[in-house]
Amino acid sequence: MRILSGIQPSGALHLGNYFGMMQPAIDLQQQGEAFYFIADYHSMTSLFDAAQRRKNTLDVALDFLACGLDPQKSVFFRQSDVPEVCELSWLLTTLTPMGLLERAHSYKDKVAKGLSPNHGLFAYPVLMAADILIYDSNVVPVGRDQKQHVEMTRDIAIKFNETYGQTFVLPEPQIRESVAVVPGIDGQKMSKSYGNTIEIFGEEKPTRKKIMGIVMDSRTPAEPKPDADKNLAIQLIKLVEPQATAAAIEERLRAGGMGYGDLKKQLFESYWNHFADARKKRAELAANLDYVNQVLAEGAARARTLARTVLQRARKNCGLE
Ligand code: ADP
Ligand code: TRP
Repeated sequence: MRILSGIQPSGALHLGNYFGMMQPAIDLQQQGEAFYFIADYHSMTSLFDAAQRRKNTLDVALDFLACGLDPQKSVFFRQSDVPEVCELSWLLTTLTPMGLLERAHSYKDKVAKGLSPNHGLFAYPVLMAADILIYDSNVVPVGRDQKQHVEMTRDIAIKFNETYGQTFVLPEPQIRESVAVVPGIDGQKMSKSYGNTIEIFGEEKPTRKKIMGIVMDSRTPAEPKPDADKNLAIQLIKLVEPQATAAAIEERLRAGGMGYGDLKKQLFESYWNHFADARKKRAELAANLDYVNQVLAEGAARARTLARTVLQRARKNCGLE
């Protein structure tokens, strides 16, 4: 089984990215041959600062390795180190109906938010299809917001296979339902573009301040809170504490006698401790960038070998060779 996923270097990674995509991807390393990449080409659709892209790309590499991506088990690389995906993207784009792209939620959401779309943003799902298909991927671990993109990949692959003969493996999205949508500090989906994130490796003081600033209702500490399970801090604590510990905190809130200030302090402590080991590992990696760059270079070489084989199969089948 081949597993593949990617993440854009479009800003600091957060708990939504971690629990929705990175942790499931890291767990899957044991179950098959995993390919994970930093989607720097995709970040070009919305980030127009070269130095920032370079920095974010390195940060994503550090974050992923610190969180447990094991380069002995997984192929870890930068998307643009395999430029073959751009050629495959062209082959696929000629079979992609405009209507399919016009129905993409992520595109529609961005336009609705006032972003003035470039052609790259519109064609984003086609490049993503190329990413997935060029490695003959079977399983794609992602958060729920990416499900439609994987379904579009299947549609495009089916169309290609029907038109030019069997060429591509059909991938399946894999979504961990319990963390399909991690809420941000405002209760909406946590997202880099909504300014509501808790970063995985945020600095201590600003992150504490952010968490203490979460707005809650006006009930006094003494009041029982029968709806404790709906509380945002409780939902986040459930992600970073063992089940029994989180259940005990939820029970204290439910019973009354626990105020929101204490609850938020608890959330900060739980979050901070949860990532303590990864934070230490990240600092070690940051002091050894030669190693990180070597991991990415080796990953790129392995990914490229496979990508070339699949691209050649596609080129042949559609009459370019
Ligand atoms: P963002 O919305 O912050 O820009 P990305 O689109 O870069 O995040 O997403 C990277 C990965 O993280 C994707 O697989 C996406 O589904 C997942 N993801 C992002 N936000 C969340 C969230 N709030 N809950 C669950 N998964 C998420
Ligand atoms: N679109 C994904 C996101 O924003 C990133 C991505 C690019 C991706 N190519 C991919 C994810 C291929 C999975 C497979 O999160």
